[in-house]
Amino acid sequence: MTHHEKSGLGASRPRISTGHNPLRRDTAINGLIACAVAAALFAAGASFTPGAALAQTAAATTASPVKGDPLRGKILYQGCESCHSIDDNDVGPKHRGVVGRRAGSIADYAYSPALKNSGLTWDEATLDRWLINPSALVPGTKMFFRIDDPQKRADIIAYLKEQK
Ligand code: HEC
Repeated sequence: MTHHEKSGLGASRPRISTGHNPLRRDTAINGLIACAVAAALFAAGASFTPGAALAQTAAATTASPVKGDPLRGKILYQGCESCHSIDDNDVGPKHRGVVGRRAGSIADYAYSPALKNSGLTWDEATLDRWLINPSALVPGTKMFFRIDDPQKRADIIAYLKEQK
């Protein structure tokens, strides 16, 4: 019995499990590591975006090397349809014939002065830059919508090319 009582004095175990504290420290340290990783990812992301924009600017004279698929583009275009349609002005101007057309040239759509006076013509290269970041290409535009994935941009542009 005394042995039992002694092992019952394994009440020293609960005391060891006062080692709750080390556990809590671990959790706190994991939290710190998670924060550090998040910060590192954020920093990497922040420096990545301008890099990508610069690369695109450098390649701006030629179209994106990525080949677009108009069928995928048709599905992706649904993301544009909260503001655009092919044949009607909405929040944004109608898109039929947009490839090859002067930017800001739909007569009955109220463009921002910035886009209207941009002097751009929409082709694969300008549309690619537009979809990367409209405000970078045309500061003052009222379109705020970006497609980060080069393949998706190419697909959407391939679809728009077919809407003559
Ligand atoms: C949240 C609303 C919104 C979404 C979503 C949107 N746009 Fe726009 N878009 C606009 C607005 C507003 C304008 C007019 C910009 C201006 O006048 O400065 C515009 C203009 C344009 C123009 C210029 C057309 C012209 O006649 O000069 C193109 C091209 C364009 N959008 C393509 C797209 C594509 C492709 C998508 C989807 C990937 C898309 N937009 C998604 C609001 C949007």
